[in-house]
Amino acid sequence: MPDVIRVEQLERTYHLGSVDVPALRGIDFAIPQGQMVAIMGPSGSGKSTLLNLLGCLDRPSGGRYLLAGEDVGRKSDDQLAEVRNARIGFVFQNYNLLPQLTALENVELPLVYRGLSAAARRRRAEGALESVGLADRGHHRPLELSGGQQQRVGIARALAGQPDVILADEPTGNLDSASGEEVLRLFLELHRSGRTIVVVTHDDDVSHYTERTIHLRDGVVVSDDPVPPELRRGLDERGAS
Ligand SMILES: Nc1ncnc2c1ncn2[C@@H]1O[C@H](COP(=O)(O)OP(=O)(O)O)[C@@H](O)[C@H]1O
Ligand SMILES: [Mg+2]
Repeated sequence: MPDVIRVEQLERTYHLGSVDVPALRGIDFAIPQGQMVAIMGPSGSGKSTLLNLLGCLDRPSGGRYLLAGEDVGRKSDDQLAEVRNARIGFVFQNYNLLPQLTALENVELPLVYRGLSAAARRRRAEGALESVGLADRGHHRPLELSGGQQQRVGIARALAGQPDVILADEPTGNLDSASGEEVLRLFLELHRSGRTIVVVTHDDDVSHYTERTIHLRDGVVVSDDPVPPELRRGLDERGAS
């Protein structure tokens, strides 16, 4: 499988007045198409900084980021926005749904920039909602849905753009453990159907659903290991514990 994501000696330093804060200090890894990866580490280790770079919301201060073979650091702001819109699907901790829009309208919204007809947008959004098990909730507004359902709408919105990679920052952070598990099982299902998924989290439970765990500490990778099959949870298993 070709690498969707490849970072080489990736660095990001924030400048606060005269102080330099090196948030990422030379990170290397590659993520092949179809992999599901957890990026873990304590608060302040650089997870969000890394996710912002992977999501083309920010540019590296050093090293390289290749997304589907393209060097992201060399792109203009407009090109970066285009790459982001076409290749990345984001899932947020707080869902980021617009409360005044229905679930279907929320899922459709990013497709407005795709030059699709209104009918094509609607079809895609309906398909995405169906794939997260919410076909019958399209006309509900976010506050008429549970937290787990809202996050599934968020995932449908990410899927509707048919991205190369789904990036999720603490997607279970606002959910009780049962809804969190439901969301992780959905990610697992999407991964089994071929999606590339990167989940950033400090929740150890998440790694039971991924096939690889990258641990960060103080802006460097301290471990990068496959998750042993015996620790992995299957689609049909209920989480023990
Ligand atoms: N916008 C910013 N300006 C300055 N420093 C920042 C900024 N964002 C993050 N940092 C610093 O970079 C380091 C990594 O932060 P972050 O990527 O948010 O870690 P995590 O998501 O793992 O908690 C921390 O020391 C943090 O204080
Ligand atoms: Mg963070």
